[in-house]
Amino acid sequence: MPDDALITVKPELAQGAKVDAARYRTMMAEALRDPEGFWREEAKRVAWMTPPTKIKNTSFTGDVSIKWFEDGVLNASVSCLDRHLESRGDQVAIIWEGDDPETDAKVTYRDLHERVCRLASAMKGLGVKKGDRVTLYLPMIVEAAVAMLACARLGAVHSVVFGGFSPDSLASRIEDCESTLLITADEGRRGGRKVPLKTNADEALKSCPTVQNVIVVRNTGGEVPMQAGRDHWYHELCAQASPQCEPEPMNAEDPLFILYTSGSTGKPKGVLHTTGGYLVWAGFTHELVFDYRPGEVFWCTADVGWVTGHTYIVYGPLANGATTLMFEGVPNWPGIDRCWQVVDKHQVNIFYTAPTAIRSLMREGEAPVRKWSRKSLRILGSVGEPINPEAWLWYYRTVGESRLPVVDTWWQTETGGILISPLPFAVDQKPGSATLPLPGVQPALVDNEGNILESATEGNLVILDSWPGQMRTVFRDHERFIQTYFSTFPGRYFTGDGARRDADGYYWITGRVDDVLNVSGHRMGTAEIESALVAHPKVAEAAVVGMPHALKGQGIYCYVTLKSGEEPTEALRKELVAWVRKEIGPIAAPDAIQWAPGLPKTRSGKIMRRILRKIAANETDSLGDTSTLADPTVVQDLISNRVG
Ligand code: WT7
Repeated sequence: MPDDALITVKPELAQGAKVDAARYRTMMAEALRDPEGFWREEAKRVAWMTPPTKIKNTSFTGDVSIKWFEDGVLNASVSCLDRHLESRGDQVAIIWEGDDPETDAKVTYRDLHERVCRLASAMKGLGVKKGDRVTLYLPMIVEAAVAMLACARLGAVHSVVFGGFSPDSLASRIEDCESTLLITADEGRRGGRKVPLKTNADEALKSCPTVQNVIVVRNTGGEVPMQAGRDHWYHELCAQASPQCEPEPMNAEDPLFILYTSGSTGKPKGVLHTTGGYLVWAGFTHELVFDYRPGEVFWCTADVGWVTGHTYIVYGPLANGATTLMFEGVPNWPGIDRCWQVVDKHQVNIFYTAPTAIRSLMREGEAPVRKWSRKSLRILGSVGEPINPEAWLWYYRTVGESRLPVVDTWWQTETGGILISPLPFAVDQKPGSATLPLPGVQPALVDNEGNILESATEGNLVILDSWPGQMRTVFRDHERFIQTYFSTFPGRYFTGDGARRDADGYYWITGRVDDVLNVSGHRMGTAEIESALVAHPKVAEAAVVGMPHALKGQGIYCYVTLKSGEEPTEALRKELVAWVRKEIGPIAAPDAIQWAPGLPKTRSGKIMRRILRKIAANETDSLGDTSTLADPTVVQDLISNRVG
């Protein structure tokens, strides 16, 4: 199949679709012609205490100010819970599938509402109030969703930290937003292994004086120390707490959550999302992109520690009254067929996962997939990194039996939800392309000078105007927000991604154009890994770049210069890998470390990463111009000692 093969919409499956091709065109045109009118209508999909009369008030220039529905009042937990009680109180809201295939649980909207209210009451009892920050460091258990919604109910701002992050990473995220409460668990489970969450949390809290209370979920039952006066068992607090808790009225622009994400420089940024616009965007995109129909089971395999989990496990599905599946485990444990087993077991209709998972399943062939019926499936989705056409086609043919639409959804932590993706029954698909923008999204490609490029071309991906789900600021650092996203191409939101647009106007995301890596769909700043490396007593200097990796998309390639007198041994190499794992977390473990007696620098001392990327990728015959190097001999040495 050629690179630009069209997989056309199958009319027999499109019956009853929310949006068909004609409706998509109308929506696109309407959102552009009359954004106020379009979003005034769409805003009705959430439950308002006071409906907004002001719809859009946004500016990408000057101080950059983004406000949507600014005089509306709502509470996100009401949209996700209370308003469903009458119509679908006994419907399952969350299907929980444990790491151990023998364990699962179903939580109805009524149960979930009560659990959220109890925890919110308990948190209130600990003094948590509107605007306070609460850090969640939890495994993929129902309590993670309960805790997010309990924060929302009180107007507290949650900051979820992925359970795979180290104590140091957790500590810096707590310190940055000065959380007063941490909610964690004794241990997590993943792929048959235990994750020592409480132990990590205790380590982190040594440097977090703002945290006054810790709520601990008893999950595995593993022994953990509890500090009197600070630590409380979740089940004990909730048993005593009131099952009623009035929702806090929130302005549409009051913060809902902070989520830390890596950029090209410095420490992770606290991406801030507010209540009204985010929730509208979560519900809108979940319904349109997945053609969600009442009663269906939706499974997003992400972790709630990432934005994908926020928007497509918790807020989007619950705002739409959906049944959302939450999976504690990993796709290949205990068997490589685990996903399809779960699909059959819970009759999953919509399955949303990452290319890295698809590639690792693809490697095992078709048999594990064919073993299960997968009859319930209706739509397949992909997210997190570019999906190569081979993996797309395998997903389409093997998992989807050449029948189901595949939606490759492009978005970012910053965008709150999906921006570019086919609507499954409105837009023909091409393997490897995220295709076209959603209604209300105006992408463009610009050259390095910021000139808008027309028709089929390649360039930097920018968004020309605001959409409701856009991040509002970097927590307590609006200057950094402006700097990061609006200064490269003034007046435009710069995504940090490069993209190609074909003659049909389809977008093909080519990956980051900045110093951000995407390793198995996890985003990582090269600067963070470098600073972890140079924190080691034997390291003088380090430069980190991405390298192509068959499974992970990108691997982490590190050039390390040792302090004089230090020996570059195999033992030290292993020690450095372990060091980075410990400093940041297992997801940041280097794939390759090359000893570099020197790094290629310009005469002004700037490391020429372009050259380092080429060497890591083994593309040394296209190094480009090296004449500006201070010492060109460095490059020859690096080439001859390339690892891998
Ligand atoms: C970066 C954002 C989107 C939620 C999960 C990751 C890359 C994401 C795609 C896609 C090509 C993609 C981009 C983006 N990315 N989805 N469908 N095709 N690239 O969120 O951690 O904020 O990372 O992931 O490079 O900028 P994130």
